[in-house]
Amino acid sequence: MSAEYELTANYSGNFSDLDSRWADLARDESQPDPSDAFVFKFHSVDEELGPDQRWSTWLDVERGSRGPDPRPSWVVTEQAAIDTELGVLKTGKEADVFLVERAVEAIGDNPAKSSLLAAKRYRTEEHRSFHRSTSYVEGRRTRNSRDSRAMHKKTAHGRSVAAGQWAYAEWDALNRLWKAGVPVPYPVQVDGTELLMEFIDDGEGGAAPRLAQVRPSKELLGQYFEQLRGGMRELARAGLAHGDLSPYNVLAQGERIVMIDLPQVVDIVGNPKGMDFLLRDCHNMAAWFTNRGLEIDEQELFADLLTMVF
Ligand SMILES: Nc1ncnc2c1ncn2[C@@H]1O[C@H](COP(=O)(O)OP(=O)(O)O)[C@@H](O)[C@H]1O
Ligand SMILES: [Mg+2]
Repeated sequence: MSAEYELTANYSGNFSDLDSRWADLARDESQPDPSDAFVFKFHSVDEELGPDQRWSTWLDVERGSRGPDPRPSWVVTEQAAIDTELGVLKTGKEADVFLVERAVEAIGDNPAKSSLLAAKRYRTEEHRSFHRSTSYVEGRRTRNSRDSRAMHKKTAHGRSVAAGQWAYAEWDALNRLWKAGVPVPYPVQVDGTELLMEFIDDGEGGAAPRLAQVRPSKELLGQYFEQLRGGMRELARAGLAHGDLSPYNVLAQGERIVMIDLPQVVDIVGNPKGMDFLLRDCHNMAAWFTNRGLEIDEQELFADLLTMVF
């Protein structure tokens, strides 16, 4: 008979502090399974993970902090997944954006899976480093070395209220807009000051360029504008203006554009400056298209969007 045990360990001391039974198991990772029962194993995270890695934070956050349905199939939800920091996409005043891979090895019949994420981290003291979960000891239950699964929990960590609010504001906006069909990155999860979203790539493993960096053909320019206006209309239909729309906050992914950087979305009617923001968004984008050879009248665009609001 096989018994199924579950053990969750939140342990950050030495093995010598452990009950001797667990300590023995912890020391002997290769202990043969005496029956069908699960064998408990302890692994120190520091031994298992590289300095640029952490356990996936997917299950650390509550339900509402994970992305909306229908969830794209590429989203890695396995709790044994590992996040690996691959580099910095951009550092900024309020936030830094990193490239993170979330991947899980093949487990039993489930194939290996991985996806790239953009991690936007709003700046606070305690979020300057990636190592906030490396001091934990993980409890694992395993059938054998292949069929293993990480059990992990995160202790409470300090959160900067201000930075967290920006992350949640952007999270909220991405959720609303993604559900409304606006071309924005899929919001994967928010955890305190860190927002994980779909990485918008260039098809060759790199990041998609900002609109400001590309010189599309006349035909593509027209397609980009139609997409942009469609997105702005959807926003307006929801009563919102981007609030910081510019060729730096629109990515060009092949034939598709994606709007990013949305923590400050503005309520067009409720905000006393809502109209000003909308007009400024129109101005910034019309100027760029016009400069690239597709003449766009900002007032016409503005008027068109207002018909969506009222
Ligand atoms: N989802 C994403 N996919 C690819 N690149 C991204 C993504 N989000 C942000 N970036 C890159 O990071 C830069 C900064 O992100 P952004 O959200 O505009 O923050 P901010 O301008 O406030 O620093 C973007 O210009 C873009 O190059
Ligand atoms: Mg930006």
